[in-house]
Amino acid sequence: MAASTRHAPVVEARCLTKIIEEEVRTTLVHDIDLVIERGEFMAITGPSGSGKSSLLYLLGLLDLPTSGEVLLDGRATSALDEAERARLRLESIGFVFQFHFLLPEFSALENVKLPMRALGRRSPAEQDERARELLGLLGLADHSHKRPGQLSGGQRQRVAIARSLANDPLVVLADEPTGNLDTHASEQVIAMFRKLVDEMNRTIVIVTHDMALADRADRHVRLVDGQIESDGEGEHATTPQSIPS
Ligand SMILES: Nc1ncnc2c1ncn2[C@@H]1O[C@H](COP(=O)(O)OP(=O)(O)O)[C@@H](O)[C@H]1O
Ligand SMILES: [Mg+2]
Repeated sequence: MAASTRHAPVVEARCLTKIIEEEVRTTLVHDIDLVIERGEFMAITGPSGSGKSSLLYLLGLLDLPTSGEVLLDGRATSALDEAERARLRLESIGFVFQFHFLLPEFSALENVKLPMRALGRRSPAEQDERARELLGLLGLADHSHKRPGQLSGGQRQRVAIARSLANDPLVVLADEPTGNLDTHASEQVIAMFRKLVDEMNRTIVIVTHDMALADRADRHVRLVDGQIESDGEGEHATTPQSIPS
C-alpha cells in the first residue's frame, strides 16, 4: 500500500507482449515499454497490421498481455479478475473507436449518461448536468435531444467523445477516431482533442494513420511489427488558441 507520492504516470506499459497461438504463432505486440504522463497528447501510427489496435486494447484493459504489465495510475492490473478489470475500465478509461457505437434509440444526452449510470456514482440530476456540460464542451449543446440518426458523422463522433469523458477517466484511448469521417468533420474532431488537452489537461492517446491528426499531437510513437520504431515530439508544439492555465 506504499503508494508513491511522486508523480505517477497515468498509464505505463512494461515489457508488454501479446502473442496469439493459433495455426500460426503471431506476435501482435512485442516488448513495449511506454510511459504516458498526465496531459499528454500522443499519436500512435504505423503500417496496417503493425499492432496499433492491439497495443491500445492492452493499454485500455480490453485485452490481456501474454507477458508484461499495464499500470494505471501506478497500479498494476494483470492480477485483477475480469470484474475488477471491467470496473477499472469503466472508471478510468474512456474509449473512442472508428465507429461511434452510440445506441440508436437513445438521445445524445442519454448516450453520454450511460457510463455514469453504469458506474452509479452520480445522482440522476448530477448525471444530467454532467452530460449537458460535456455536450456543451463538444459544441453540441443544441443537439442533446437528438438521436444519433439525426446527427452528422462528425457530430456523432463528438457525442462519442463526450461519452468517453463521462466518468472523468484518467485517459482517453481513441482508435482511428477520424477513420470514418470526411476532412471537415475530421478537422473538428482533431480540434476537440486538442482543446481537451490544452484547456482541460486531459490525457489522450490516438491511434491513427491520418498524418494531419498525428501532427497535431505532442508526441508521436510509431510502431512497426509490434515494436516501437520511434518515439518523439510531434510537429505540433503549441496552438495559438490555447488558453494558459
Ligand atoms: N485475434 C487475432 N488473431 C490473430 N491475429 C491477429 C488478431 N488480432 C490481430 N491480429 C494480427 O495482428 C497484427 C496486428 O493487428 P492490429 O493490432 O489490429 O494492427 P493495426 O491496428 O496496426 O492495423 C495484424 O497482423 C493482425 O492481422
Ligand atoms: Mg487497427
